[in-house]
Amino acid sequence: MTQPGNRDIHDIEADVARRLRAAGCVFAEEEAALLLAEMLGSEAPETLANRLALERMVAQRVSGVPLEYVLGWALFDGIRVRVGDGVFVPRHRTELLVEAAASVTRAGDTVVDLCCGSGAIGLALAGRVPGIELTAADIDPRAVSWARVNLEPVGGHVFEGDLYSTLPDNLRGRIRTLVCNTPYVPTADIALLPPEARLYEPLGTLDGGDDGLDIQRRVADDALAWLAPGGTLFVETSEAQAGPSAQIMRAAGLAAETIRSAEGDATVVSARRA
Ligand SMILES: C[S@@+](CC[C@H](N)C(=O)[O-])C[C@H]1O[C@@H](n2cnc3c(N)ncnc32)[C@H](O)[C@@H]1O
Repeated sequence: MTQPGNRDIHDIEADVARRLRAAGCVFAEEEAALLLAEMLGSEAPETLANRLALERMVAQRVSGVPLEYVLGWALFDGIRVRVGDGVFVPRHRTELLVEAAASVTRAGDTVVDLCCGSGAIGLALAGRVPGIELTAADIDPRAVSWARVNLEPVGGHVFEGDLYSTLPDNLRGRIRTLVCNTPYVPTADIALLPPEARLYEPLGTLDGGDDGLDIQRRVADDALAWLAPGGTLFVETSEAQAGPSAQIMRAAGLAAETIRSAEGDATVVSARRA
């Protein structure tokens, strides 16, 4: 069998875009191009196998599966992070947290990505600041598997368990940069999320309790014990929650500052140990 020619590819892409648009995908053309590129990069050389693979991907996407799960990766801070079923898809707004953390992190620093999900934040930091000592942890075994796929190739170590409880004890008092994108959606707002998040991402990746800040409170409570002197914790929050998030950090004995990007609709609270 032969590979499809340029004309065929153009027609197939237009057809895929039309089906995605009919299914309600806002960025149908861009998504069609990504799915086609994925098909052409497939290891199956025959046209028929490629077309079947593409058909499977389009059917998944039309049924509402998040694009990143279909592709098997998400673009985050300019790099491809491997993702799939059961793990939170990293959001572009979280790149502000990466940028803020990278600005105070140096080669050789001990960095911990708590609530790591796919490990996107840790991976992006390792890309921006080569030579960090990276550890990550998450409570969900599916997230831990994806984080290992992403972080072990860059020398990261990934642990499974509740917040700090699973970290090696020798990190106590030594963490220079602690990055933590906790679930922070208030429970009552979960129903308002887009279906791709509500129906496909595990509830435990989204639900932050009554005011959304339950896990941030627990992270802050133990931060002084795990941060090195001068070390900084970075958490993501929403614009509306920024005041309460900063207050939680101050109550835990940390010097808190809010960083906001209106353009990216992103808010980060940095909390430094004196
Ligand atoms: C919003 S997602 C963020 C994932 C990743 N850091 C990112 O930005 O793409 C929150 C993550 O926190 C994890 N998580 C929730 N409760 C946790 C806990 N008590 N201990 C450790 N991880 C937890 C979830 O499993 C989920 O992977």
